[in-house]
Amino acid sequence: MSKQILVLYYSQTGQLEQIVNNFCSPLISAGCEVELVEIIPIEEFKFPWNGARFFDAMPECVLDIPISIKKVALTKDRYDLVIIAWQPWFLSPSLPIISALKDPKIMSVISQTPVITICGARNMWISAHKRIRNWIKDNGGIHVGSLVLRDRNNNLISGITIQYWLFKGRKDKMFGVFPKPGVSDDDIENCKNFGIDAYECLQNDEWNYLQQKWIKQDGISVSKRLMFVEYRAIKIFTLWAKLIRRKQNRKLWINIFRIYLLFALFLLSPIVILLFTLIIQPFFNKSLNKQKDFHEGVNLQP
Ligand SMILES: Cc1cc2nc3c(=O)[nH]c(=O)nc-3n(C[C@H](O)[C@H](O)[C@H](O)COP(=O)(O)O)c2cc1C
Repeated sequence: MSKQILVLYYSQTGQLEQIVNNFCSPLISAGCEVELVEIIPIEEFKFPWNGARFFDAMPECVLDIPISIKKVALTKDRYDLVIIAWQPWFLSPSLPIISALKDPKIMSVISQTPVITICGARNMWISAHKRIRNWIKDNGGIHVGSLVLRDRNNNLISGITIQYWLFKGRKDKMFGVFPKPGVSDDDIENCKNFGIDAYECLQNDEWNYLQQKWIKQDGISVSKRLMFVEYRAIKIFTLWAKLIRRKQNRKLWINIFRIYLLFALFLLSPIVILLFTLIIQPFFNKSLNKQKDFHEGVNLQP
């Protein structure tokens, strides 16, 4: 009997959808039955974004407060493999993803089932990944593989180009000189190879070595510097999110957060990265490597 695969995804720009399609194409060619389920917010997030709407999404993402989504209809109760394709928003799983993960049907369908996660991010995904991993564990899923595709350009450059992409709606070279934003075309194309790996594991029902293989192939890679920045940033975002939710004048506070974020990205983070490289990394490299290994890993035990 052909293998039954459920794929849950949300993609606002189409990038993650392309990634998912490439990943799934070898599985479909091999005869697997792939059920693609798109998560659709009742009130769609318009693309391109405007600044006010973009920053307004932060508090609920960070504090795990769901939005309304269209009912997710699954054709089966059990699948041989569940794939969850997700993206981080403000160091947290995106609002459509947060909301889907609270659906009892989705929670129950992963129980005792191999789960692969595929993320398409700029470059800060660690905290959100941890939340997704915990969700899989809490619902009895077997996390057999995790891919994180990212913008490989420098943090400051990708910080500029992602704004151009998300606010102008164009994934091309800003002013003709900056690199293209987001996950590169080559990395998106290469997802077909990860799909072939997944098919082999699915056929043999042997998942033990998949993640190690993907780590070697650079399917997921933690930057220790960005990990250091992100650990601090998520704590500060949580404080901001709680503060903004308490305030009557939300618009004003979102604008203040917006200024803070630009300051943090372009002034604070280079300083933190410099201090990290000079002081922290030389003395704490062993412990940083352990943390890196953890974030690149999966939980094979349900
Ligand atoms: C509101 C918002 C916040 C985002 N925050 C992050 C983030 O914290 N870290 C990151 O690596 N990427 C971030 N991104 C980029 C997305 O994860 C994603 O890669 C990009 O929006 C592509 O969209 P798609 O996956 O919906 O097609 C953000 C995007 C949006 C729209």
